[in-house]
Amino acid sequence: MHQTTIVVAIAENNAIGKNNQLLWHLPADLKHFKNITSGHAIIMGRKTYGSIGKPLPNRRNIVITRQTDLNLDGAEVVNSLDEALKLCQNEEKAFIIGGAEIYRQAISLCDKIELTRVHQEFDADAFFPELDNETWVEIWKEDHLPDEKNKFAYTFSTLERR
Ligand SMILES: NC(=O)c1ccc[n+]([C@@H]2O[C@H](COP(=O)([O-])OP(=O)(O)OC[C@H]3O[C@@H](n4cnc5c(N)ncnc54)[C@H](OP(=O)(O)O)[C@@H]3O)[C@@H](O)[C@H]2O)c1
Repeated sequence: MHQTTIVVAIAENNAIGKNNQLLWHLPADLKHFKNITSGHAIIMGRKTYGSIGKPLPNRRNIVITRQTDLNLDGAEVVNSLDEALKLCQNEEKAFIIGGAEIYRQAISLCDKIELTRVHQEFDADAFFPELDNETWVEIWKEDHLPDEKNKFAYTFSTLERR
């Protein structure tokens, strides 16, 4: 595997979710996520998989759980992040797509973050770790104002480990 990348959308207060759901409806971000991940492996926690509710098409779906008897149609089930990454050894790219528990374990293993910063604070129960400039350097960004379909301002960016 050449690259392990986190893909995440984070509010100004580092919030990423509440009650096992996203905090916003931003179709532009869903499209961005699809563009980045299509054709590749996506690795997620069992709760995030439950929140999405189905395997995402045109991607190899890998779900991490501590359960030993979980079977999911259209997804590969593993018992650790390490096992998930091993399954991706021959993949060109693997994307870690959440949620909070998986991001916390994966962040030190990733060399790149495809970040969407949503310029708003939200009440939440799931958070992303603080991203510090000493570890991460921004190599690309694109700012977007709110529009009819996307209620909040947001910035797409790519961060690389220094
Ligand atoms: N904003 C974003 O970009 C974004 C992206 C993804 C998710 N989210 C949000 O994040 C929230 C979900 O995050 P979360 O932290 O509650 O759940 P999660 O990280 O999606 O999944 C947690 C589950 O993963 C399994 N797991 C975690 N670590 C493991 C390990 N070391 N070994 C084996 N299994 C392990 C366990 O499954 P079992 O309980 O089955 O054992 C655990 O309950 C939701 O609100 C979701 O909408 C936001």
